[in-house]
Amino acid sequence: MIQNPLRYFAHLADSKGPRAHLKLGNRHFYLLNDPELIRDLLITQGAAFEKFPRIERTKGLFGEGLLTSEDPLHLRQRRLMQPAFQRERIADYGRMMTRCTQALMADWRDGQELEATEAMSQLTLEIVARSLFTTEAGDKAAMIAHELEVVLKMLNQLVMPWGPLLLGLPLPASLRYRAALRKLDEIVYGVIDARIASGEERDDLLGMLLSARDAETGERMDRLQIRDEVMTIFVAGHETAANALAWTLYLLAENPGAREQMEEELDQVLGGRLPGPEDYPNLPFCQRVFQESMRMYPPVWILGRRALDSYTCNDFTAPKGSILLVCMAVLHRREEFFPEPDRFLPNRWLNSTAPKFAYLPFGGGGRLCIGERYAWMEGVLCLANLAQRYRLDLLPGNQVEPLGLLTLRPKHGLRMRVSARVQQR
Ligand code: HEM
Repeated sequence: MIQNPLRYFAHLADSKGPRAHLKLGNRHFYLLNDPELIRDLLITQGAAFEKFPRIERTKGLFGEGLLTSEDPLHLRQRRLMQPAFQRERIADYGRMMTRCTQALMADWRDGQELEATEAMSQLTLEIVARSLFTTEAGDKAAMIAHELEVVLKMLNQLVMPWGPLLLGLPLPASLRYRAALRKLDEIVYGVIDARIASGEERDDLLGMLLSARDAETGERMDRLQIRDEVMTIFVAGHETAANALAWTLYLLAENPGAREQMEEELDQVLGGRLPGPEDYPNLPFCQRVFQESMRMYPPVWILGRRALDSYTCNDFTAPKGSILLVCMAVLHRREEFFPEPDRFLPNRWLNSTAPKFAYLPFGGGGRLCIGERYAWMEGVLCLANLAQRYRLDLLPGNQVEPLGLLTLRPKHGLRMRVSARVQQR
């Protein structure tokens, strides 16, 4: 399980069925591949669970941000932050997503080689930094990227069973982690304090966080809470989207038929002009490509919940304290829901009969990803910008294998060659 959790969970589902039980020490684990039960877990009886404990170890970074907090704080914060992710706001972010993707490609040359995961990570960090901070983002994004790299490396270790041990020891990695956290705090508090001092009201995510008031109590978030939410959005909105885009580029490279169909759609709809948020509804194939990519390689590959009490759903029962796991990387490839599960078939979504809770790249219920709409816009617009001008192909000899850490990453990276598709303007 520790060496290759993905393979292990797939084997567990094959050998023990859709409600596989596993006992580790005196703790009960259940791996669910039953969409009805998953719906009950996340929606109907969602309040009877808390998030799986491994998240607690990441509190140094996220504090009591939306990803890690529990109700009632979580519920209050969710209500406060929801307006920042509404449809009308997403169009503004969309225009900026196109600008950032064009800026990334400004340095690309026909025939050059690049590491696609790194390039997409650079892109999505820039996008999330500009969504949060608009103008202050420029130089801060690079500084934040540098510190986040150290922090994320450590977080990937912290979620492992030996994680807490690492934090307690004065190892170089844990010292670097603490130093990077301090630096990140300095940068983020710096921006928050400067904004408060300036009295400026801006239309970005930070502006929304600063001005949000609880409808019932009129209360605002304090400085620490804003810091926690900023950090949470930075990490939750950057790693996930970067991996989703990188996996999609890989799948397109491996499936030239789908890539051509996407290019045709782009040429037809855009006629050579830059894609914008208004084009989103007219790019349905592009949407299906992104959807199918997150089926095969869901960036958040596993969810965990702990039962606050003994849990019953129809004939299924789990004792208090049990951990219920939904491994999307396994569930999304179950043949009973997705025929030919290992094939990249974007058009399967035209007439899919898979139950709703057989596909959940953004989770579900009260903890559904708050950035889902944002992420769809980002996925489709970044892909549209990239594929309009370039094709990316995997370099020979680059082995590709998913690695389940905090997010699902290509274990050996994705070294790709860029070829210009249309005349540069
Ligand atoms: C392809 C991109 C993305 C994927 C696959 C993804 C996936 C997820 C999933 C599965 C969860 C639920 C975790 C759980 O229930 O334990 C989640 C939560 C969350 N995501 Fe995303 N996410 C993406 C992009 C984003 C973006 C762009 C943002 C912000 C700009 C964001 C912010 C958050 C936050 C704040 C939460 C916590 C929500 C809560 O608990 O109320 N995510 N995401």
